[in-house]
Amino acid sequence: MQTKTIVAPSRRTFLAGAGATALLAGLGTAIPSRARAAPREFRLRAAPGTARLVPAPYPDTAVWSYGSVPGPEIRVRQGERMRVVVENALAEETTVHWHGMRVPNAMDGVPHLTQRPIAPGERFGYEFDAVDAGTFWYHPHQNGSVQVGRGLYGPLIVEEVEPIAVDRDVTWVLDDWRLQKDASISDGFGNMMDTGMAGRIGNTVTVNGQVPDTFAVRAGERVRLRLINAANARIFGLEFDGHRPTVIALDGQPVEPHGPADGRVVLGPAMRADLVIDMTGTPGSRFRVTDTFYQSLEYRLLDLAYAAQPLREHVPDTPMALPANPLAEPDLASAKRHAVSFGGGMMSGMMGSSSGGMMGGGMMGGMGRMMQGMQHGGIWTINGVAATGHVMDPMLTLQHGRSSVLELVNDTAWHHPIHLHGHSFRVLSRNGTPTRHREWQDTVLMTPRERVEIAFVADNPGDWMFHCHILEHQAAGMMGVIRVTEASRT
Ligand code: C2O
Ligand code: CU
Repeated sequence: MQTKTIVAPSRRTFLAGAGATALLAGLGTAIPSRARAAPREFRLRAAPGTARLVPAPYPDTAVWSYGSVPGPEIRVRQGERMRVVVENALAEETTVHWHGMRVPNAMDGVPHLTQRPIAPGERFGYEFDAVDAGTFWYHPHQNGSVQVGRGLYGPLIVEEVEPIAVDRDVTWVLDDWRLQKDASISDGFGNMMDTGMAGRIGNTVTVNGQVPDTFAVRAGERVRLRLINAANARIFGLEFDGHRPTVIALDGQPVEPHGPADGRVVLGPAMRADLVIDMTGTPGSRFRVTDTFYQSLEYRLLDLAYAAQPLREHVPDTPMALPANPLAEPDLASAKRHAVSFGGGMMSGMMGSSSGGMMGGGMMGGMGRMMQGMQHGGIWTINGVAATGHVMDPMLTLQHGRSSVLELVNDTAWHHPIHLHGHSFRVLSRNGTPTRHREWQDTVLMTPRERVEIAFVADNPGDWMFHCHILEHQAAGMMGVIRVTEASRT
């Protein structure tokens, strides 16, 4: 095993770093206006630790974390360059992926595909520009089910140059954990029931690393609430009793401000939503926030607890719309269309598989097919292929600068949040019906049997992961590579 410290070369940092600036200042020379500012520096150290997830009398929980759960918030301004040095103090290899950030391929944090994994004791320096403003997050891309499941993740917020006016900008990182009675994390990652079905869904939900009880608010207050779903597999469907949240961004990308469908904010694993919530309740009152996603498994997440003193009489009426990010608009007329189907899992025959040629339907058929799949290294597939690692032949090669429409078909009995690296895409339609907001996303949640059309311009060269973000599904094969060719020199 190599022990050399690897740090991405950063000529620019050196040239425009503090030393160069001081030198230029010392000579009385004006710094050339084109020179880049030094990047904002951050450090992350992945290590075993403890966290107080559940209140006393439960003990602390042994976790893997970046010092805390969630990891430290990384916050930069749009257009800034950032540099994050990651130190691996775990007993196994790791990487960090900047989920939703449109970074150069070499900074994407995918083991073996975009970088050599960071060995125990090593460091790696990630450096890139914060191109888009929005709500993002970071997490390992190595042994994800275990590493993310044990607590390695954190929020990454890129502020707009001119943010909208709110009284408070708050982030809730949502997670769920499978804890035993002594509050320790139960083992059994990657067992077949989780893997072949809904993924590892936990029994304890946390907000910012703690089982929550109340969230203190004041009457008349306007809150920007950034939700991040960091769970391995749980889908959240949040309802805010007595309040009308407005969705202003999805997966970091601005969307026309609108009320969520059926008043419920649905977030698959890895997805984010920015909400504006006006606190219109009366001082001293309480309102429940419930998660109603799974039928008959609804629970109270926490209460909005109004202080006795209002902040002001009426909530402000300032604009909520966020400025657009610099995303290339796909040209649908010239776009190349590609069919992508997602298959596998247990009971996949039960609802009438459209792929044909499979063994009989029902539980046994699904199980049989799954066992058969296991022997080939995976039980979930994309276009019939179950991935066995991050390195593989690309499932699609897209020409740099071209628009593409992917026609995604969920040919399984399960939900899948499908994530593309290096790009955001527009969600054009669901089951043939155009979406209302043509939202930009980096992760699209597909319901069982759903057909979804997405479109984007392949403008970021490199090999990019395209995978289900239910981490157990990803590990068991639901993962592919989309290659974007280098910019042509003609
Ligand atoms: Cu958030 Cu490929 O992952
Ligand atoms: Cu999946």
